[in-house]
Amino acid sequence: MSSNYLEAAVETAQEAGKILLEEFERPVRITYKGDVDLVTQADRRSEEAVVARLKKYFPDHAILAEEGSGHERPSKFCWYVDPLDGTTNFAHGYPCFGVSIGLTEADKLIAGVVYNPVSKELFAAARGEGATLNGRKIHVSAIEELGTSLLATGFPSHKRAQNPNIHYYWDFTLQSHGVRRDGSAALDLAGVAAGRFDGFWEFGLHPWDTAAGVLLVEEAGGRVSDFDGKPYKLGGRVILASNGHVHEEMQRVAAEIEKKVERR
Ligand code: IPD
Ligand code: CA
Ligand code: CA
Repeated sequence: MSSNYLEAAVETAQEAGKILLEEFERPVRITYKGDVDLVTQADRRSEEAVVARLKKYFPDHAILAEEGSGHERPSKFCWYVDPLDGTTNFAHGYPCFGVSIGLTEADKLIAGVVYNPVSKELFAAARGEGATLNGRKIHVSAIEELGTSLLATGFPSHKRAQNPNIHYYWDFTLQSHGVRRDGSAALDLAGVAAGRFDGFWEFGLHPWDTAAGVLLVEEAGGRVSDFDGKPYKLGGRVILASNGHVHEEMQRVAAEIEKKVERR
């Protein structure tokens, strides 16, 4: 892979991170996309900057960005952009959010960056070249059992009541060291890559939430699939990412929970 792609993604994420920090210091202006689905001026400004820069560097590439200002066109390359992952946190002044930029070539992830501008942590990965945090190689954890694992998950802001995850949250909490719900899927996946979390799952995520994070986990030595162990596809119904060791145990527990949910 041309290292230009990763460099461009890093530069772009840093620019977006500056905008997010600037906006974080101002009173938040919120509008709503649906029932409780927030969007702020920060989402929009960050997306504008990311899309403008990617378009300038790679005019022939497609860009799919969450707030809709992408650059849709037929191309072998597609950038997936979440200009602010963790909008609800951001809007409440909870300093856990970031920008996520992933690139696919012929539908295969080849570069990804997740940047948290508050902690100044920049997670980056290129296919076949490993994953890094602020330039140092990172690796998934060595924990082997669910019972001693720390997990993460999330709940959508949109149609939350129709999401089955509360049942999974309950059971996984009782069968592990705990489940964190930090409000940014991109940072959750980066957390798995860095060995902070041993596993992560969520329903209904979009390609821009997961593109960069999936590559981070894979390049850090972890595994990403659906609950049946089939390869995860961007935008798939459910994602399961782990350090690899606890993957099958998490699949088994998920299958038991599913059966219980069906019987309700
Ligand atoms: C959300 C976050 C959250 C996840 C939601 C996402 P947004 O993205 O990643 O952790 O649970 O499903 O929609 O709206 O803050 O970009
Ligand atoms: Ca998101
Ligand atoms: Ca977002």
